[in-house]
Amino acid sequence: MRRSICAWIPVLGLALAAPSTAQTPDGAALYRERTCIACHGPDAKTPILPVYPKLAGQNADYALQQMQDIKSGARSNGHTAAMKGIMYLVDDEEMKILAEYLASLTP
Ligand code: HEC
Repeated sequence: MRRSICAWIPVLGLALAAPSTAQTPDGAALYRERTCIACHGPDAKTPILPVYPKLAGQNADYALQQMQDIKSGARSNGHTAAMKGIMYLVDDEEMKILAEYLASLTP
């Protein structure tokens, strides 16, 4: 009996660890879930229209600034209106994670 209880201890440890890892959103998951994928393509370099930018390999600081400016309206040019409409889906922390993710991709 005692042995079977001991066998559960590692399982409990995993269950307790799970929520903390789930709270750190992963860039690739955010990119899919926050609809970025729909316009910029699954690999961030096959946009649905040629007038939409490729993002893979972009500098993180630049990408972050553009997201913030598109969200705030400071950048309002070309087709930014298409993207502005979904930017309520991401907060500052998530934009930072997305920028790092985009920078990590091969152009
Ligand atoms: C509805 C389509 C659409 C969606 C969804 C979308 N974008 Fe965009 N995004 C655009 C367009 C169009 C531009 C270029 C605007 C312009 O013409 O200047 C852009 C520009 C950008 C830029 C700046 C690129 C540059 O070279 O200046 C970044 C970074 C970016 N998007 C990231 C994202 C991320 C991250 C998401 C998901 C949270 C996202 N976009 C969702 C359409 C979209």
